[in-house]
Amino acid sequence: MEIIEVKNYDELSTVTADLIEKQIKMKEDSVLGLATGSSPVGTYKELIKRNLDFSKVRTINLDEYRGLAPDNKQSYIYFMRDNLFNHVNIKDENINIPNGLAEEGFEECLRYDKCIEDLGGIDLQLLGLGLNGHIGFNEPNTEFVKGTHVVTLSQSTIDANSRFFENYEEIPREAITMGIKSIMDAGHIVLIVNGAKKASILKDALCGPITPNVQASILQLHNNVTIVADKEALSELKKTF
Ligand code: F6R
Repeated sequence: MEIIEVKNYDELSTVTADLIEKQIKMKEDSVLGLATGSSPVGTYKELIKRNLDFSKVRTINLDEYRGLAPDNKQSYIYFMRDNLFNHVNIKDENINIPNGLAEEGFEECLRYDKCIEDLGGIDLQLLGLGLNGHIGFNEPNTEFVKGTHVVTLSQSTIDANSRFFENYEEIPREAITMGIKSIMDAGHIVLIVNGAKKASILKDALCGPITPNVQASILQLHNNVTIVADKEALSELKKTF
């Protein structure tokens, strides 16, 4: 595991964009596993600025809310188009994200797992870290769920997501998320973490026991993980050395 300490969010974004740029230049048809949320917004901005060739790049997103249509501004497909896809030359057919409107959740999960398999796996998986240690929407649990599954969002996640919604009632309670095995099968995992509020959970994830109660702790078992984190996020972890 490599830990890159950055001084602020701008540096986190440029360093992470460097890693993604390197991946795309090394393999033009790379499969990028992508995340939404606040953490990667700067990285996507930076990638757009660099005018990279996405014409052969394939993407697979971690998750999508259930019940939100693609034109809903809070849906993750809307987020991805707005923050990245509409600004680079990626082909529409190379974009993959769970269908939040699928009525049969189980069928949609099977379709998504098949989609990951058909892509040949993920070359680089970008991850943010939930305040409760979730990666994707793999919430604290008694097990690590391997494949794509429907998840009931935890109270901590609903509260964290409330900042994006006008009314509390509008926040989806369910999502479809890629499972832990698909994430762990990625060739390279890049976890980006910023801010003091994530310091304690980052320490638990990287130095605590490997437990499904802190889903990100499984990353300790991956042999090619890069953590890009600012000083504030690393502050608790540093106390342990
Ligand atoms: C988003 C996702 C989540 C977020 C995490 C951190 O697709 O899968 O795991 O990465 O909740 O969110 P932010 O970056 O908003 O703090």
